[in-house]
Amino acid sequence: MSKDQGLKLVSREIEDVGTVCFFEMDLVGEKVNKLSTPVMLKMRELLQEVARSTNYKALVFVSKKPKIFIAGADIDEIRALDTKEKFETAVSQGQSIFNMIEDLNIPTFAMIHGACAGGGCELILACDYRISSDDSSTRIGLPETQLGILPGFGGCVRLPRVVGLQAALDVILAGKLLNAKKANKVGLTDRLVHGNLLEAQTVQYIQEIFKSGGKKRRKTFQPVGLVAKLLEGPLKFVVFSQAKKGVLKATSGFYPAPLKALEVIQRTFKMSDRTRALEIEKESFCEVATTEISKNLIHIFDLTEMVKKQSGVPGVQVTPTEVKGIGILGAGTMGGGIAFVAADKGIKVRLKDLNPEALAKAYKHARDLWQKLMKKKVIDSYQLTQKINLISGGTDYADFKTLDVVIEAIVEDMGIKQKVIGETAANMRSDALIVTNTSSLSVTEMSKGHPHPANFAGMHFFNPVHKMPLVEIIRGEKTSDQTIATIFELTKKMGKMPVVVKDGPGFLVNRLLLPYMAEAAFLLQEGMSIEVVDQFYVKEFGMPMGPFALMDEVGLDVCIKVLKIFKKAFGDRVDLAPCMLALESTGRLGKKNRKGFYHYDDKDYRGEVDQSIYQALGLSTPTNPYDSKECIERGVFAMINECARAFYEDQIVKTPHEVDLAMIMGTGFPPFRGGLLKYADSVKASYVATQLAGYSEKRKAGARLAPSEALKKVSNFYV
Ligand SMILES: NC(=O)c1ccc[n+]([C@@H]2O[C@H](COP(=O)([O-])OP(=O)(O)OC[C@H]3O[C@@H](n4cnc5c(N)ncnc54)[C@H](O)[C@@H]3O)[C@@H](O)[C@H]2O)c1
Repeated sequence: MSKDQGLKLVSREIEDVGTVCFFEMDLVGEKVNKLSTPVMLKMRELLQEVARSTNYKALVFVSKKPKIFIAGADIDEIRALDTKEKFETAVSQGQSIFNMIEDLNIPTFAMIHGACAGGGCELILACDYRISSDDSSTRIGLPETQLGILPGFGGCVRLPRVVGLQAALDVILAGKLLNAKKANKVGLTDRLVHGNLLEAQTVQYIQEIFKSGGKKRRKTFQPVGLVAKLLEGPLKFVVFSQAKKGVLKATSGFYPAPLKALEVIQRTFKMSDRTRALEIEKESFCEVATTEISKNLIHIFDLTEMVKKQSGVPGVQVTPTEVKGIGILGAGTMGGGIAFVAADKGIKVRLKDLNPEALAKAYKHARDLWQKLMKKKVIDSYQLTQKINLISGGTDYADFKTLDVVIEAIVEDMGIKQKVIGETAANMRSDALIVTNTSSLSVTEMSKGHPHPANFAGMHFFNPVHKMPLVEIIRGEKTSDQTIATIFELTKKMGKMPVVVKDGPGFLVNRLLLPYMAEAAFLLQEGMSIEVVDQFYVKEFGMPMGPFALMDEVGLDVCIKVLKIFKKAFGDRVDLAPCMLALESTGRLGKKNRKGFYHYDDKDYRGEVDQSIYQALGLSTPTNPYDSKECIERGVFAMINECARAFYEDQIVKTPHEVDLAMIMGTGFPPFRGGLLKYADSVKASYVATQLAGYSEKRKAGARLAPSEALKKVSNFYV
C-alpha cells in the first residue's frame, strides 16, 4: 500500500462558491475502498489539513472506484482483533475521525455511487449533505449485525437522528442494504440523480447550498402526521417493544448483536450528549464483537468471500467458457426454478419438456416470482418484460446448437437420463456441456450416456431453487477441469454458491442429512414425539426447521428411497427405523400431497402435527423419554460422524470450509454456530466420538451410531 493509501485532497474552483476540496478515495491495490487502520489514520491527517485550511469552502467525499463508495471496515482487521481493549482502541479512533467530519466548520457533502456499507454509511451520516446516483450498484446501509457486531462508528447514534427511529431500526436490525431509491425515500440521502449526472448535480447542489448561505446543518428527521409524531416521541416505547419482538422472532434469541444494537438505540435516541452516546455505542460494540458468535459469522463471511475468488479447480490454470445461453431439460419443479434464477441474472434460457403444460407452468412460476419482486419495487415493469423474454421453450431441440450448457432436470431414472443425455448431445455442439441435477444417481455412471464424458458433470440445485443458495458441482471420474471451471463460474453468475464435490452416494449435503433424518425416526420409534424433537432442534439448536418438518419438505417417499440407496451403498451403518418403513404404506408423501408428519393447509402452510400418524405407524402414545441433549446430540453427531468418513475416507470435498459452507447454504445449519465442522471443533471431535459410543451401546444402535475410525482419529477438523 502506498503511503497516501490512495486517499487525496483535490481542489476545484466552483462558480459562486470558491475552492471546494474533493476528498478522493481510491485505495491502491484494492478492488474496493475499505476502512483499515492505516486508511483511517491517513483520513485523519487529511481532515486535519482541511480543518487548518482557510481556503476551502466545502468538502466533498467521492470514490474513484467504479462501483464502490466504501465497502465498510476491513474485515481482516476485525478478525485479527482479539481483545476488548484492541476493539476499544479501533472504535474510539473511528468515532473520533467521524466526529472530525461532523465538526468541520465548512459544509460537508457525500457524493455516493456504488456500495456504501457499514463504516462507509457511517461516514456519510457524519456529513451534512448526501447525494447519490440511482445506479443499481448504489446500495447503502449498515449490515454489521449480519457479522454479529453493531455499527460502532456512530451509526447507531446518527442514523435514527437522520431518518427517524422506525426507518433506522429497520436498517440496523435487519442489516440489509437499501437500494438508492429506498435510501432516498427514507431520507438517508437528500438527492437522487442519474449516475451520469452525479458530478454535475453535486456541483449544482453545492451552489444551491451556498446561494442559501452555505451553512452546515445537522439533519434531524421531522415526522409527518400525528401517528408518526407519537411513535417518534411519547409512544416510542411501542416501536422499541415491537422491534424487540420482531428481532426475537427472526433470531430465536440466538443472535445477540441486533438486540444489543436495539438497546444502544433505545439508550441514545435523542441524547444531546454526543460523547456519552458514542461511549454507550462503543461499550456495546466491544461486548458483541468479542463473542464466539461474531467470530463464527465472520467465518461465514470469509467462506463466501473465498468462493468469489475461487475457480473450482485449485492449482489448475483454466479459463472458464463464457456461458450466454443455457438449455434446461424438464420444466418441472427444479427445471422451472432453475430457469427463473438463470433468466433473472440475464442468461438466455431454452426449456424443453415432453409436456407443453409443464412449460406453461414453468413460465408462470417465473412470472409470478418477478411480479412479486415488482410489487416490492425491486424491479420495474420494463425489467420484468426483459427477463420474461429471456425464457423460451418447446418440446423439441430447436436452438440447442446455440447453447453452451444444458441442465438436465427430468425424472430420476438412470436409464431414461442416459438415453436423453445421448440424444441431447447429438443435438448440441461437441464443445457444449451437459450437467445433471440428479440428487441421488451416480454422475460417473450417467456420463456413460454422453459421447464426451469430459463434458459432463453434476449441478445439484436445492429446492426451492430461488431460495436455496447452494449448488453442489459434482465431478464425475471423467469430468474435465474446464467443465468444472465453467460450471463453477456459471453458478456464481446465477447468484448461487458453488461447492465442488466428488461423485458418491448423496454427494455431500444429502449424505450428511440422511443419517440425521434417519436418527429422528429412531427417536420417534423410541417414544419421542414429533413436535418435541422438532422443537428441540429449532429452539435449542437453532435449525430453521426440525428433522420431521424437513422430511415432509423433501418428500417422505424420497427420504425412504434415498435411505434404501444409502443402505445398499454403506451397509450396516445405515438403518431404517420400523416406523419409517411403515410410512411407505400410508400414502403420506409429506408437503407435496399435504399428508405427512404435519397437517398442511390449502396454501401448503405447515400446521400442527398430525396426531393420527402415531397409530398409522404402529406407535404407542409418545412418552418423551429423552432430554434435548440426547435428541440433539444423536442427530447432529450422526452428521459429524458421517462427515468424518466423507471427508477423510472418501475425500468428497477437500476442505472443512467447503463442508461448512455447504451445510449452511444447503440446509440452513445455524450460521451462528459457524457450520457443522466449526461446531464439531467447538465441542471437540473426541467428545462427539465418546457420546456416540455411549448412545450406540445404551440405545442398542450398533453400527448406526458407533463412532467411525475416521472420527476417532480427528482432533480438530480445522487445522
Ligand atoms: N424436487 C426436488 O426437491 C429436487 C431437488 C434436487 C434435485 N432434484 C432432481 O431434479 C430432477 C427433476 O426433479 P423435479 O422434482 O423437478 O421433477 P418433476 O417431476 O417436477 O419434473 C420433471 C419434468 O421433466 C419432464 N420430463 C420427463 N422426461 C423428459 C424428457 N425426456 N425430456 C424432457 N422433459 C422430460 C416431465 O414432463 C416433468 O415436467 C430429478 O433428477 C430430481 O432428482 C429434485
